[in-house]
Amino acid sequence: MKEYTKSQLALRNGQDRDEIWVAFRGQIYDVTHSRLWRDGKHYEHWAGQDLTDELPDAPHTETVFDKFEVVGILAVSHEL
Ligand code: HEM
Repeated sequence: MKEYTKSQLALRNGQDRDEIWVAFRGQIYDVTHSRLWRDGKHYEHWAGQDLTDELPDAPHTETVFDKFEVVGILAVSHEL
């Protein structure tokens, strides 16, 4: 599986590229075709980042990711 950095993920925020990606627990999901992530926005959340810590705010569980393809792995960041 291909690894992507946080900055590569950030380009898939629904504004800069056609692809829309979201990272969750180290995996990157392609939500480009979801009507609920149009333009990279999902309620008050934005694509192009790791939203693992935000899931507890959602009215749903992680099973929402089941139907999406994993397109890569989020590279471990050494940024401070
Ligand atoms: C205020 C916070 C949030 C609200 C109100 C919200 C609401 C919803 C609703 C109503 C749905 C569709 C029905 C369902 O599957 O239950 C949905 C789907 C989804 N949510 Fe959230 N959500 C929130 C946060 C998040 C977060 C933080 C993530 C990522 C970690 C996320 C990822 C998803 C995904 C991937 C889907 C599936 C989209 C699809 O099937 O096209 N949501 N959300």
